[in-house]
Amino acid sequence: MSKTYTTINVRNEQTTTWITLDRPDKLNAINATMLQELSEALDTTEKDTNARCVIITGKGEKAFSAGADITELRKLTQETAAELSRKGQQVFSQVETLSKPVVAAINGYALGGGLELALACDFRLASIDAELGSPEIKLGIIPAWGGTQRLAKIVGVAEAKQLIMLGDRVKAEEAVKMGLVDKVVPPNKLEAEAEALTQRLCEYPPTALKYAKHAINSGTQASFEYGLKKETEFFAQLFSTKETKEKIDAFISQRNKKEGDC
Ligand code: COA
Repeated sequence: MSKTYTTINVRNEQTTTWITLDRPDKLNAINATMLQELSEALDTTEKDTNARCVIITGKGEKAFSAGADITELRKLTQETAAELSRKGQQVFSQVETLSKPVVAAINGYALGGGLELALACDFRLASIDAELGSPEIKLGIIPAWGGTQRLAKIVGVAEAKQLIMLGDRVKAEEAVKMGLVDKVVPPNKLEAEAEALTQRLCEYPPTALKYAKHAINSGTQASFEYGLKKETEFFAQLFSTKETKEKIDAFISQRNKKEGDC
């Protein structure tokens, strides 16, 4: 039986696990409980061999997530602020390093920690009325759940500075132009588009997808040389898997058949 959470909702649909941030009256603001529950749900999903892809979204029409729960920020000291930062970094790194593709279906505001969560995902689809941004500077703080690093990697240093240091929100269509989201879709198509994407991903061998993801991440996380080494290591390892050999054989025998038909 699947576990019941208080701030998120987890459901398995065929080979995809949906994780929905579920505090719609607070625009799915991420509090300490939600961080912990996300971590547990990701652990469970990692171990679940039926789960081939993950979609993360927010409940309601208004928000993916409006960020860290500001009411919890009020009580922070220097020490507890560092703990909260490390915890958020650890949970969002779980998203980034999950061995399965993760899609963010951004159904409204993705602000602050909400954007940081989306940035840790492999793919970002946004509803046309979504707005994204890092408004932390307006509270006198900075993104601290990996946002300063991931945003710069994804959209480049110049755009990241604009977003983080000015705190302006961008609408979904502008976010696509910046490379912050991959695709914009009508609100009523968001779930179906996310599902279609995971279905395409599920057609490919999970080990190859896992290694593709890890090789890309290794290269951007450490040095370029380290990334190249990991790329070689994972590429070589794939040749010990049955799926890779089958895929290559199938491609070649299809071509041979076509040539024979001519
Ligand atoms: N933390 C805690 N509660 C939040 C929240 C957050 N980050 N963002 C929104 N909420 C709560 C509001 O307090 C409000 O709760 P209430 O009804 O009990 O008063 C509820 O969610 C709805 O938000 P509201 O501000 O009334 O909606 P809006 O449509 O007028 O504005 C936003 C939407 C997103 C522009 C606005 O809520 C906002 O700026 N939120 C903060 C975003 C932010 O700074 N995030 C980074 C945090 S580090």
